[in-house]
Amino acid sequence: MCGIIAAATDRSVGKLLIKGLFKMEYRGYDSAGIAMHSENNVVHLRTLGKVKNLEEKMIADKPKGKVGIAHTRWATHGEPSEINAHPHQSNDRVFIVHNGIIENYLSLKEELTDEGYAFNSKTDSELIAHLLDNFLKAEDSLLSAMQKLKNKLDGAYAVAALDQREPESFVVARNRSPLVIGLGKKENFAASDPLALGNLTSKFLILEDGDVAKISPDLVEIYDAKDKLANREKLTIDINAEASSKGNFKHYMEKEIYEQPQAVLNTLDGRIGGEDVLENIFGEGSSEMFAKVKRIQIIACGTSLHAGRVAANWFSAISGLPTQLDYASEYRYKNPYVDQDTLLVTISQSGETADTLAALRYADDKGYLASLSICNVPTSSLARESDFLLLTNAGPEIGVASTKAFTTQLTALMLLTLSLAKAAGKNPLLRARMINALRLLPEKISEALKLKNDIMDFAPEIANKDNALFLGRGIFYPIAKEGALKLKEISYIHAEAYPAGELKHGPLALIDQEMPVVAIAPEYELAEKLVSNLEEVKARGGALYVFGNAKEKLDLSTGRYISMPECDFLLTPILYSIPLQILSYEVALLRGTDIDQPRNLAKSVTVE
Ligand code: AGP
Repeated sequence: MCGIIAAATDRSVGKLLIKGLFKMEYRGYDSAGIAMHSENNVVHLRTLGKVKNLEEKMIADKPKGKVGIAHTRWATHGEPSEINAHPHQSNDRVFIVHNGIIENYLSLKEELTDEGYAFNSKTDSELIAHLLDNFLKAEDSLLSAMQKLKNKLDGAYAVAALDQREPESFVVARNRSPLVIGLGKKENFAASDPLALGNLTSKFLILEDGDVAKISPDLVEIYDAKDKLANREKLTIDINAEASSKGNFKHYMEKEIYEQPQAVLNTLDGRIGGEDVLENIFGEGSSEMFAKVKRIQIIACGTSLHAGRVAANWFSAISGLPTQLDYASEYRYKNPYVDQDTLLVTISQSGETADTLAALRYADDKGYLASLSICNVPTSSLARESDFLLLTNAGPEIGVASTKAFTTQLTALMLLTLSLAKAAGKNPLLRARMINALRLLPEKISEALKLKNDIMDFAPEIANKDNALFLGRGIFYPIAKEGALKLKEISYIHAEAYPAGELKHGPLALIDQEMPVVAIAPEYELAEKLVSNLEEVKARGGALYVFGNAKEKLDLSTGRYISMPECDFLLTPILYSIPLQILSYEVALLRGTDIDQPRNLAKSVTVE
């Protein structure tokens, strides 16, 4: 789960590679490094910590070069350190950067040790450099060495490599880890994410699994899994520089929270008309396929699974379909039983989450009616490998903590709910009601964003605590889970979520004055029951923070009540996510954590 970038150009390459690394820091930020062909050798620099440290070293050392590779790391094998940072090298000849995990690295390491190779790092990646060096004893080019290498490696990899004896070019390989080629004028590039190349080109080729490519300033040669010369589809992706910058905000997360009215509008754009959802918005033939769906299986991770949990309620209430949900990391290991006419739904912001992708690939021959993905990244593996797709169109989400990706996933999942109901001819009046409510949603979100000052008022009370509980019932329980995940992710406060009715079955023992309890309590059928649950908290001295729209129903002599804007009940999960995001952000700000790049995490989890 790292970012790699490589470039072959006839201008100075160092700055360009560093710029690209900055844009990919969301993928990992514990160490960074660069290798560039220079006069008669390869310059090799590595630093512990963020890309900024590497940039400083570059400014001090002023290395020169026109062809180079670079890396920003999220440690899997071996702690974050300079020695474990990429690029790794072999015999001062071969230099490589790698994103992914080599599953058979122990046996390969043994083979290479027998051949006389010494390992400096604790990584699984270093052996790639030694293997290439070893192949180059018999092969006449880095390209053919890389073609040999791919038959040796098990696991996921995107690799870029330099051979000191081939100063005009670099070679890349891809298997189950993202890698795109960017095409420029007299310069060409490769990177884990097109975002890293956004200021350099808008023309991209997306590599496929098993591809190896040789890239020089004038030429891109791609060979497929069978080593045959291959053409790959050329895509134009305009990466708006503003969309990937912080603008006037302190953090990407803050910017992304406040972008939500527009992001939701983008998700809806071109997908609803009159009083219904439009046909085939999930792809040609999707409406016809929806008519056959009898059940739904959702697979996702983290925040994306929370979106799925909300949708399961909608599928049941509006589309009349039962839903099974699984953590992507668990799904493959439970021998899933697949009922006929089940639609497989994967949800992912990045579309590169290894667990979700592995689950999709595993499910391929299990007899699902079709696979459908809700995703934010059009070039991602998930988007390309699913039968049907709805892009959330939220724009790049760079803060590690998911915000606009979540609310746009929910919006997309409501569109899926309505499409399924429409295909089955169910609930036309309710569908029309939801379409109108969706149209009002961006405005409602803007209103909820205005609660910032109210939230800032009590954020210090939570910022100085070590724990927090989040409560919600029914459709709000997943929102409580998402609120707790957000708080722990960026403020490092331990937070748990419970369906409020479960409190008395154990967690109540935790309640005292040191335990803030955040409750999501709009007026609905379970509201009265929830009030009793909150009374139980009050009676034990717990500090209550209640988000709701019926203050008069709660005698809140202690604690805080935050009055939420009104909106259609079925969309309230989307609306109530907003103040919880603001709360986490403001608490983290007070605690002085690294909000966009919280410790131990990375945005795109491309390892299983
Ligand atoms: C959310 O704040 C998290 N960073 C994380 O749970 C994330 O949602 C999860 O890793 C799944 O990512 P995806 O949506 O890109 O698949």
